[in-house]
Amino acid sequence: MSQEIKPKKVSESRTIMTEMVMPNDTNPMGNLMGGNLLRWMDIASGICAGKHCEAHVVTASVDNVSFQKPIKLGDVITLEATVTRAFRTSVEIHVEVFANDIKGGNPRRCNHAYYTFVGMDEEGRPQPVPQVVPLTEIEQQRYDSASKRREMRLILSGRIKPEEATEFRALFLARKEGL
Ligand SMILES: CC(C)(COP(=O)(O)OP(=O)(O)OC[C@H]1O[C@@H](n2cnc3c(N)ncnc32)[C@H](O)[C@@H]1OP(=O)(O)O)[C@@H](O)C(=O)NCCC(=O)NCCS
Repeated sequence: MSQEIKPKKVSESRTIMTEMVMPNDTNPMGNLMGGNLLRWMDIASGICAGKHCEAHVVTASVDNVSFQKPIKLGDVITLEATVTRAFRTSVEIHVEVFANDIKGGNPRRCNHAYYTFVGMDEEGRPQPVPQVVPLTEIEQQRYDSASKRREMRLILSGRIKPEEATEFRALFLARKEGL
């Protein structure tokens, strides 16, 4: 008999991670290397996903990430990861990156990304995950838009055909009909 999984609030798995950019993390210009930032984003969002799913998780995909503002040697970066929505065995995590100097000066939002993780059972198979209860306006917005982002990444990875993307079809038809 399958046991019902209790839905969870976003706040239950919110994850904040802080790092300082050290010489080994930088390129010859003294900027944080993109690959190192992606690694920290993966770790912060993976911890968030694991807390939400109460299980081991694997990264299934990362949506496009752009590096808008350079992060310098000695800067302190803060990563904030929150779950946006759960599907059957996967969860979407939003991660934001903020930076400032060690004295708290020059605070800025550097970039953000959406990661998808899959909850795994003890045998390493995908397992059902708890649904998300959005409570604030921003949580609701991210929850509502998650299914479109999911359809887009499933099309791009070849897992579904564009004609199977019901959310996108509805969006384009509404635009075409001027709704
Ligand atoms: C991700 C993985 C578990 C999916 O396995 P699978 O056999 O395809 O399993 P399923 O078809 O049941 O898919 C499981 C979930 O993953 C999701 N998924 C699979 N590929 C995806 C992708 N590219 N983007 C988004 N979600 C994806 C599916 O939509 C499904 O979610 P749902 O149940 O919520 O609808 C498997 O491909 C894997 O283990 N990949 C390697 C993970 C890894 O090592 N990550 C680190 C990389 S460095």
